[in-house]
Amino acid sequence: MTRLFTYLCFSSFVFISTSISANVENGEELHNSNCTSCHISIQGGDGSGIYTRENRRIESHPALIKQVKRCRDSLGVPWPDEHVSDVVEYLNNSFYKFKK
Ligand code: HEC
Repeated sequence: MTRLFTYLCFSSFVFISTSISANVENGEELHNSNCTSCHISIQGGDGSGIYTRENRRIESHPALIKQVKRCRDSLGVPWPDEHVSDVVEYLNNSFYKFKK
């Protein structure tokens, strides 16, 4: 019984951690192949300066979700909400660090 419990705890831990990192990785890939070129043309460098500039617009997690949707729509890609949350997760992990 104890063994089964240990197994279940361990496997759900592995499941949770791999699903989180898969999301971030998927978000990074989606982001890098769709979102950077336009930001580079605005901000220069690798484009990530748009997320770290002093007068950046996004100051909360809900605002980040909204902005990603806005930019997705201006890009015109038919992303489902899971793609949006993967990209939000990636941007939050790498740049914004908002608490959810
Ligand atoms: C057609 C050009 C264009 C594309 C493509 C684009 N963006 Fe943007 N993005 C902008 C502009 C312009 C701003 C700055 C808006 C401002 O300063 O008012 C911006 C700002 C942002 C910000 C807010 C930065 C801040 O100030 O904190 C985020 C987040 C963002 N974009 C995410 C994305 C994501 C994710 C994608 C890919 C789905 C994407 N963008 C694709 C033009 C684009």
